[in-house]
Amino acid sequence: MSIKVTDNRVFKLDTKDTSYIFAVGEGNMLLHQYYGGYVSDDDLSYYVKYQRHGGVCPKPAFPTADYFSTDVNRMEYSVNGTGDYRVSALQIKDNDGHASTDIRYVGHKIYPGKPVIPGMPATYATEEEADTLEIDAIDAHTGALVTLFYTVFKNHSAITRHVRVKNTSDKSFDIERIYSACVDFYAENFELLHIYGMWGKERIVERNKLNHGIQTISSKRGCSSHNHNPFVALVSDNTTEDYGDVYGFNLVYTGNFSAEVELDSYETTRLIMGIESTDFNWLLMPGEEFYAPEVVMVYSGEGLGKMSRTFHKLYRNNLCRGPWKLKKRPILINNWEATYFNFNEEKLYSIAKEAKALGIEMLVMDDGWFGGRSDDKSSLGDWFVNEEKLKGGLKALVDRVNALDMKFGIWFEPEMISPISKLNELHPDWTIQIEGRDKSLSRNQCVLDMTREDVREYLFNCIKNVMDNANIEYIKWDFNRPLTEIGSALLPKERQKEYFHRYVLGLYELLERLTSAYPHLLIEGCASGGGRFDPAWLYYTPQIWTSDDTDAVERIDIQYGTSMCYPTSSMGAHVSACPNHQTKRVTSFKTRGDVAMFGTFGYELDITKLTDDEKELVKVQCENYHKYYNVIHNGDMYRLISPFERKRDSAAWMYVSSDKDEAIVFYGVIRTSLYMPHIIKLRGLDPAKKYTDLATGAVYSGDTLMNAGLNIARAFCDFETVIVHLKEC
Ligand code: DGJ
Repeated sequence: MSIKVTDNRVFKLDTKDTSYIFAVGEGNMLLHQYYGGYVSDDDLSYYVKYQRHGGVCPKPAFPTADYFSTDVNRMEYSVNGTGDYRVSALQIKDNDGHASTDIRYVGHKIYPGKPVIPGMPATYATEEEADTLEIDAIDAHTGALVTLFYTVFKNHSAITRHVRVKNTSDKSFDIERIYSACVDFYAENFELLHIYGMWGKERIVERNKLNHGIQTISSKRGCSSHNHNPFVALVSDNTTEDYGDVYGFNLVYTGNFSAEVELDSYETTRLIMGIESTDFNWLLMPGEEFYAPEVVMVYSGEGLGKMSRTFHKLYRNNLCRGPWKLKKRPILINNWEATYFNFNEEKLYSIAKEAKALGIEMLVMDDGWFGGRSDDKSSLGDWFVNEEKLKGGLKALVDRVNALDMKFGIWFEPEMISPISKLNELHPDWTIQIEGRDKSLSRNQCVLDMTREDVREYLFNCIKNVMDNANIEYIKWDFNRPLTEIGSALLPKERQKEYFHRYVLGLYELLERLTSAYPHLLIEGCASGGGRFDPAWLYYTPQIWTSDDTDAVERIDIQYGTSMCYPTSSMGAHVSACPNHQTKRVTSFKTRGDVAMFGTFGYELDITKLTDDEKELVKVQCENYHKYYNVIHNGDMYRLISPFERKRDSAAWMYVSSDKDEAIVFYGVIRTSLYMPHIIKLRGLDPAKKYTDLATGAVYSGDTLMNAGLNIARAFCDFETVIVHLKEC
């Protein structure tokens, strides 16, 4: 069992190289003791702080040591209003309007395996893979029974957490804040690393020293967002890719989230992560339960690289689901940047035909095939094939593409409605809105009220009609605007602040219904590129369109940042035309292919317009995708040179097969200079093995490549990339 409890009620959770310890203290308060590298002692109560604080911190009303205060101790799950003035994970407002909360341990349960979270995505595990601890704690005043769930993944250095609140009283209460995890760290010299961005430039890696006070990384957009990602890491100040303590936190949630980190005056760092609380409230009636989403916590004592590899493996094996989770994805060609809205069945067929001849396996028909949509001004919601555009209908086109031995995929943006649409004429009340207020438009569209069952039923049937009418094997599920003017016609006023979370639950329900009805369907998530790149989406869709910016140089940054916690198999990456449509940058066809190779590979250009040389390169790239697939997607990823540290104006990463007999190295020069060295110290190889560089025939030993490095001794131009394939000889 990876979970132990001692006689004096200390709980110890162990993965093979991590320990997490907390205890029931005086007054049945839950006190955090330790989180970090594995320790063999079961009880670290010497670590509990009875810190002098001059008596200005309130003391709980039970006989206790002189200096005990919840404000200076490390608490296991912080609550608001009863003496702990730091950021709190839980705040319950009683039926009379008071918002003080105080939870005390009342019992626990330990069992093998992992429970599901009703209605929400989460990691999953067999009884062999994981054990779970449930801690019950009650707020006696309101009757809120709080259950803290901890699941220990024995082989992954990962612990997941979520929280349930049950109303055991005969009066309702409001949950005003409920975070899924809280961890108090003692006296670490932490920096906060997170991945922020914007449309077309997602997941920039930023790392800053913590100052005293609170720093928040959050989204209030109704989606996890381009701007911030529900991932943060606390890292010791000397941490590198290979060295140092790293604590990674990732929320399995698609809606508003917040990670709050507070460095207090006593040098304790508290991190809480969960649903963003400004726009949240939940009225819980007697007998009802509320579940907060899951946080995945990964500890690495060997730097950022190991943390990322843990996330990658965990997500591929214990989060993604369905037949595609570990399966090789088809090389696709998407017509968006080739045609935008301007296509018909002949144009699509000509793209498919040329693509097939070069080794591409699936055609994806993007936006514009439905209703009267010829630009972004109308028709979202009218999910009926536009037969003026697709003469002969969808089935005829899909059959023709299938006859080429190619799969067919289609684009939807189910959650949206255009004011100019048949759907809006019929159901103006289906839009999220506040009566009497103007509706803000974004990309000329509004958002459907996903909390409504009738809306979800309509959407399911629309998708079903398309699916049942033709052999559709892939859907790109897009989402192109955040939420505003939050209001639902069906919710009473005291529940309007539940809206954001109810939206997400409605969305999950629809996705669950769709994936159950069509278990073999491959879905690619998308939100104007990577605006919803989060683990909750990976539960439903094993791949996500990483960014609308398809420029290879920008993509080096974006894919590098995304790799902090998301696996390569989850990142949609396509070769597009030049000058690039977003940045106007010109890069070689080879560079574009080399960068896209490190994702779910595909094309997004008019392949009928390529030169013969470029077509030959497409063939080579498709062959390479198959050749490199096993190492890149099933191997371990090591980041070698960060594009965010402009010291070298280059970037590099590599993948090593599980038995270390093969490796693929990517190196890209972003801005060349005359005396720039191209020496890359490799990682993850077997020091005792000999490796051949398949392009040059040179033989190196693993220790030489890792200690002295690989020297690509030649001149590089700006934006030039190289892929080095090493095989044990
Ligand atoms: C945004 C997506 O990210 C693009 O790839 C494309 O599908 C457009 N939407 C279509 O409107």
